[in-house]
Amino acid sequence: MRKIIIAGNWKMHKTQKKALEFLQESKSNLEEMNGTREVVLCAPFTALSVMSKSLYAGLIHLAAQNIHWEDEGAYTGEISGAMLTELGVDYVVVGHSERRQYFGETNETVNLRVLAAQRHGLIPILCVGESKLQRDRGETEPVIINQVKQSLINVNQSNLVIAYEPIWAIGTGDTCEATEANRVIGIIRSQLSNEEVTIQYGGSVKPSNVDEIMAQPEIDGVLVGGASLDSVGFARIVNYQ
Ligand code: PGA
Repeated sequence: MRKIIIAGNWKMHKTQKKALEFLQESKSNLEEMNGTREVVLCAPFTALSVMSKSLYAGLIHLAAQNIHWEDEGAYTGEISGAMLTELGVDYVVVGHSERRQYFGETNETVNLRVLAAQRHGLIPILCVGESKLQRDRGETEPVIINQVKQSLINVNQSNLVIAYEPIWAIGTGDTCEATEANRVIGIIRSQLSNEEVTIQYGGSVKPSNVDEIMAQPEIDGVLVGGASLDSVGFARIVNYQ
């Protein structure tokens, strides 16, 4: 049975105070949720410590939004695996398209970060996705297959989550059709040796479309950006029908 994972990616949002308020507001909704789905919050580094010590920490799993491939060293501005595990983090997002687009992330560095996450006992949430131009040119499949293959060199597939996030659907309100997301996720799955890998969809997921997305047989969860910032909306997504 593949694990269902509903993850909120807060990106560069929420101070410690706001993160704690969110947890408090989410308490009753998360407690009601049936135990068949795992809830993950990908919080900024600065909020992880205080969240892991919160009374409500047991209701969720924490994720970081990046990890460096070295265990320590002269890498100003970077965070290592040991620094994250100390904060009670279980997952880490790797290769988000915003990292690839704005911070020079490549399939090679993504691969190094995925390996580092696993070395430290963290579960990487590997993000892949094509741009609008690549889709319009009919290159979706080769682009995705290449990202998956390059990012997973020497990676153990028993400790891994993948998120299919078409770049044109991120933060645009322009969700990928559920059946099309299902098709691409099926292609990703065909590249894996382990059938049990959880594969999420991400890109403009919201309360009004989550039910249709989660009804697709290949889709095992969602990675939610904007709509995860509001506790009421996120609770509706977690409690998808
Ligand atoms: P979005 O972001 O839900 O705001 O489109 C998704 C993501 O970047 O993970």
